[in-house]
Amino acid sequence: MKILLFGKRGQVGWELQRSLAPLGQLVALDRDRDGGLCGDFSDLAGLAACVREVAPELIVNAAAHTAVDRAESEPELARTINALAPDVLADEANRLGAWLVHYSTDYVFDGSGATPWREDDATGPLSVYGRTKLAGEQAVARCRRHLIFRTSWVYAARGNNFARTMLRLAGERDQLKVIADQIGAPTSAELLADVTAHAVRCARRQPALAGLYHLVAGGETSWHGYARHVIDFARNAGQAIRVAPAAVEAIASSAYPLPAPRPHNSRLDTGKLRSAFDLHLPDWRVGVDRMLGEVLER
Ligand SMILES: NC(=O)c1ccc[n+]([C@@H]2O[C@H](COP(=O)([O-])OP(=O)(O)OC[C@H]3O[C@@H](n4cnc5c(N)ncnc54)[C@H](OP(=O)(O)O)[C@@H]3O)[C@@H](O)[C@H]2O)c1
Repeated sequence: MKILLFGKRGQVGWELQRSLAPLGQLVALDRDRDGGLCGDFSDLAGLAACVREVAPELIVNAAAHTAVDRAESEPELARTINALAPDVLADEANRLGAWLVHYSTDYVFDGSGATPWREDDATGPLSVYGRTKLAGEQAVARCRRHLIFRTSWVYAARGNNFARTMLRLAGERDQLKVIADQIGAPTSAELLADVTAHAVRCARRQPALAGLYHLVAGGETSWHGYARHVIDFARNAGQAIRVAPAAVEAIASSAYPLPAPRPHNSRLDTGKLRSAFDLHLPDWRVGVDRMLGEVLER
C-alpha cells in the first residue's frame, strides 16, 4: 500500500511515521517542498497536484493550524489549513478511491455540562480553531472512505508540552496557579498513532467501519490535576522541585483569560471506537508516566 502522510514533524505526524511504516510504502511530507512534492496546506493547488502525483491508497493528515490563540487573529489562514486543505484532500481521495485519515478536536463542542460528548452530539465551537476544525472534519466526511479521530490534550515526549512547562516552572517557582475547571484526558501522540495504524488495518478489511470516532486516553482530569501528577512524579523520581504540593493552586479559567475561549467539558466518550475496533484505551496516567520517564531520563 502507498501511504501519503502530511504534517510529518508535528507531535502526531512524528509518531505516525513510526506506526504507519509497517503498513506500506510511506511518503511523509511537511510544509517544505520535498522531491518536487508540495506538503504546504496554504498552497491548495500544490496540495492537489501532490496527491495526484503520489496517487496513494491511504492519505493521513496530521497537519493543522494548532496555535489556538493565534488563530483568533489569523482566521483566514486557520480556515485554509484546517478546513480548505482537508476539503482538497477529500476530493482527491474520492477521485483515487483512497482512504483519508484526519484528526479533529474536543474544541468542536461548546464545553457545557459534565457528560462525555458522543460523536453525534450537537457541536458548538467557541473559537476560530474550533470552527475551522469542525469545517475540516465535515469536509473529510464527504470522502467515501474516511476515518476521523477527535482527540484532546495531545502531548509527546518530543518538543514542548504542558508537562514540560510545569516541570520547568516547578523547579523555578514557590507557587503555581493552574486551571482546575477544564476537564479532559491528556492523550499521547503515540497512542493516537498506534490506534490509527490498527484502525486503518481493520477498516481496509471492513470498509463499513469508515466514520467519525472519539479517541482519547482513559479517565479524566483537570489541568490542575495533570500538573499535580507531573510534579509528584518528578519529585518521586528525585528531581529538584521547588514548589510544595500545597502551593500548586487551583484557579478558574476566568482568572487566566486567553484570546480563544476553551471548553470546560472536554470529556469525550470513546465507546464507539472501543467497540468498533476492539480496543482498550489505557488510563491517561499510563502514557503521561511513560513520557515523563523519557523526558526526565534525558
Ligand atoms: N495538540 C493538541 O492538543 C490537539 C488536541 C486535539 C486535536 N488535535 C489535532 O491533532 C492533530 C495533530 O496535532 P499535533 O498536536 O500533532 O499538532 P502539531 O504538533 O502542532 O503539528 C501540526 C503540524 O502541522 C504542520 N503545519 C502547520 N501549518 C502547515 C501548513 N501550512 N502546511 C503544512 N503543514 C503545516 C506543522 O508544521 P510546522 O511545525 O512547520 O508548523 C506541524 O508539523 C491536528 O489535527 C490537531 O488539530 C491536537
